[in-house]
Amino acid sequence: MTEELHEVSLTVNGTHHELRVPARRLLSDALRHDLALTGTHVGCEHGVCGACTILVDGRPTRACLMFAVSAVGTEITTVEGLTNPDGSLGHVQQAFAECHGLQCGFCTPGFLTTITAGLRDNPTPTHEECRDMIAGNLCRCTGYQNIVKAVERAAELGLDTVAARPTRPTNDPAARPTRPTSDPAARPTRPTSEPTNGGEAS
Ligand code: FES
Ligand code: FES
Repeated sequence: MTEELHEVSLTVNGTHHELRVPARRLLSDALRHDLALTGTHVGCEHGVCGACTILVDGRPTRACLMFAVSAVGTEITTVEGLTNPDGSLGHVQQAFAECHGLQCGFCTPGFLTTITAGLRDNPTPTHEECRDMIAGNLCRCTGYQNIVKAVERAAELGLDTVAARPTRPTNDPAARPTRPTSDPAARPTRPTSEPTNGGEAS
């Protein structure tokens, strides 16, 4: 039996795309496979790790918990959309580079989008608020210390173009920025320990 396809119009990083996808097509798969925007990474596909986090109407959203057909009429920003119009790094990206906030880099796109939205909501976070801002994202390289430093550095650099965009309110349950699970085994970790290598890229 041939699966029914749906015409979907998505606005991603300011560009309109027309797709034909099954109703079950995850937004993360539509971005990666249909639009070749492979900066959005997929880790758990359960809403736990945060690697797939994108901005939907400015709000951090797990792309693995949303169907592409549900994203019609929204403004989607992926990590590719965080660069400045001239191609230079956005402030959060620049801060990650300066502070060595990434190691293998797999989790990085989700952190960048999460922090972009977090700093828009709270442009002058305390150290503790910087830690809380990333509490819903997992990094398996234990680089949290430098990621926190990157949040603080990005706050120093100030809001850039993407972060300054206004947001629209959303009721979508996938648009939860923090701690999406009560399963203790899958609970997002808070950055509690110093990385043994100082969090430097390895
Ligand atoms: S892949 Fe979506 S939260 Fe892990
Ligand atoms: S998982 Fe390797 S840098 Fe986060």
